[in-house]
Amino acid sequence: MSRLISPSILSADFNNLGKDILMLNQSEADWIHFDVMDGVFVPNISFGLPVIQHVKKIATKPLDVHLMIINPDPFIKPFKDSGADILTVHFEVCNHLHRTVDAIRQEGMKAGVCLNPATPVHFLEDIINEVDMILLMSVNPGFGGQKFIQNTIQKVIRLRRLIEEKQANVLIEIDGGVNFETGKRLFDAGADVLVAGSFVFGAEDPKLTIHQLKNV
Ligand code: DX5
Ligand code: ZN
Repeated sequence: MSRLISPSILSADFNNLGKDILMLNQSEADWIHFDVMDGVFVPNISFGLPVIQHVKKIATKPLDVHLMIINPDPFIKPFKDSGADILTVHFEVCNHLHRTVDAIRQEGMKAGVCLNPATPVHFLEDIINEVDMILLMSVNPGFGGQKFIQNTIQKVIRLRRLIEEKQANVLIEIDGGVNFETGKRLFDAGADVLVAGSFVFGAEDPKLTIHQLKNV
């Protein structure tokens, strides 16, 4: 199992985004997480392709793009062209998930599938061997700074069991309400990657917080 940190720029200072990206370059962050929201799948609108294109020019870490949009298929190539390295789609919006995951990999990106808090892990049985990552939401998607949903720990344990049963080569990423306390429990339960937005960017020393989160 790995212990990776993917800070979410949803909580960065958009008036000084370049500065925050340079900070992440110098930090122990492994990836940079982008929360793309369409105002339809989730009750919020964030940012899209141009922001990712600009960050790509200065970022030295892989771009981990989380699409909270209802119709991801036509945007797979545009996100690749904008610089995404990992592209994650929601299980709840994909009528033909196998095809969508395949299209992401065909573009040369790592493919992730995300589950909302109410979507059970066993729905992944028949796709787990085709993906690179499963993202479990530990809050209802749409906003940073929400409270961690405790049931996520049980989901991580069940997902780790499924991955072992299926001998799948898949990372488990968790998104929402991550701090030192929930982060430690998530790593102990078998998570590989923690997304953290408000906890990192709201900290007095974000670089130190990333270091400490990695070593909880
Ligand atoms: C929520 C987003 C998260 C969010 C996490 O829809 O997917 O990535 O930025 O924020 P925190 O870490 O503040 O809970
Ligand atoms: Zn996210």
